[in-house]
Amino acid sequence: IAVDPFDLVVFGATGDLAYRKLLPALYHRHRDGQIPEVARIIGCSRRPMSDEAYQKLTEAALEKFVPADEREPEQVASFLKRISYVAIDATAEKAGWPELAKALEGGKDRIRAFYLAVAPDLFGIICEGLGAHHLVTPKTRVIIEKPIGKSLASANALNDSIGKVFKESQIYRIDHYLGKETVQNLMALRFANALFEPVWNANHIDHVQITVAESLGVEGRAGYYDTAGALRDMVQNHILQLVCLVAMEPPGRFDADALRDEKLKVLRALKPIVDGDVDSVTVRGQYKAGASAGGPVPGYLEELGNDESNTETFVAVKAEIENWRWAGVPFYIRTGKRLPSRLSEIVVNFKAVPHSIFEGAAGQLASNQLIMRLQPDEGVRLWLMIKDPGPGGMRLRHVPLDMSFAQTFKVRSPEAYERLIMDVIRGNATLFMRRDEVEAAWKWIDPILEGWANSREAPKAYTAGTWGPSSSIALIERDGRTWHEEGA
Ligand code: BG6
Repeated sequence: IAVDPFDLVVFGATGDLAYRKLLPALYHRHRDGQIPEVARIIGCSRRPMSDEAYQKLTEAALEKFVPADEREPEQVASFLKRISYVAIDATAEKAGWPELAKALEGGKDRIRAFYLAVAPDLFGIICEGLGAHHLVTPKTRVIIEKPIGKSLASANALNDSIGKVFKESQIYRIDHYLGKETVQNLMALRFANALFEPVWNANHIDHVQITVAESLGVEGRAGYYDTAGALRDMVQNHILQLVCLVAMEPPGRFDADALRDEKLKVLRALKPIVDGDVDSVTVRGQYKAGASAGGPVPGYLEELGNDESNTETFVAVKAEIENWRWAGVPFYIRTGKRLPSRLSEIVVNFKAVPHSIFEGAAGQLASNQLIMRLQPDEGVRLWLMIKDPGPGGMRLRHVPLDMSFAQTFKVRSPEAYERLIMDVIRGNATLFMRRDEVEAAWKWIDPILEGWANSREAPKAYTAGTWGPSSSIALIERDGRTWHEEGA
């Protein structure tokens, strides 16, 4: 179904995010007929260039990031017609605002969205420019990307500067993990089935694991990454959002505030990790040279071109949620670059049966496990104990009930940004982070960062292509548990 007419202005139009994600996402929505005829896309960045030149760059981006069989020439041509370009340097005196106002002429009654795909230090100044040049209409929204600050204090400052021009209801903070089909499916699984909710608590769940592993290194983003590290880059946002969706109470309705109220309660119930605890329940690592995807790869410091950095490229944390539902159930989370494969999954480990009636030959009973595979090979797998077929007696085996998205739904799965950009136009903030959520997440992250800063220990080295430092294995094995193995 087509959305209402809109004008979308993309700041940072010649940046990696625009080329890799935003333009391909918009193209797909255009190709599916969801974008109305009159809708306009206006690219903005510092570099002066003509509309035609930017259309050429857009075409090149589509060639690179959209599969050939999804790029019909007439669709590409009609998509490019929507695109124009305005050079804006928000930090310069003659910034280009009047030109942007001109490009937006005739669109006062439409939905207007400004996507700030730029470094966060420009958020404030761009918002100021938009406000000062009367470009913010009642139907205007602003979209911002992480990192939203580097700490609670800087996130507050950033939110304040945007808040001077936009009301909270106009601000859409993207966490692209919430746009992933499999992440949304987590909510369907929990709240559209009667089966799981009664056992979704400390009485029946032993522990939860969340792994977000990447095989890539920092890929030319070392400049940004070195100021962030894995805790800020992945845990503060994506992984804590996953924790929230696993752990929250059922919201009364599936709407923005009901959902975000419940997520916020989880964030506020996270047990603070302070001082002495930091070294015992967190592990940081940094990759050194090794092998990945069959070839040798350099270490982090070599990629950075600087041999002094304590930035972590891997982090594992044993988190706890202090409320009735989750008391005593650890959430082990880990994420890192240059791990053996790209693999994201949530593993819910149930408790063992209270008493086994199968003794001797039956072997050991393994506990039930629910595995939600977020990427790749998206799917859901529930491990059960089943009788091994055959006359040899009651021999039991751990066997999965399997649901693969690709096999079950033979349709193209939209990318996160397709869903999220259209949600902004529809005015649906359900899958976006509210200010208080971002701040509650930082409140939990800040003391860990402080603990690390005060610690005499540096991040532990791990060889690229391995599962992180051995202390991350010790972190879970100390509790008599093991990380779920890939492919199991
Ligand atoms: C981004 C991080 O938010 O998420 C990157 O900044 C990371 O460092 C990326 O690679 C992972 O996203 P995805 O969708 O590839 O899992």
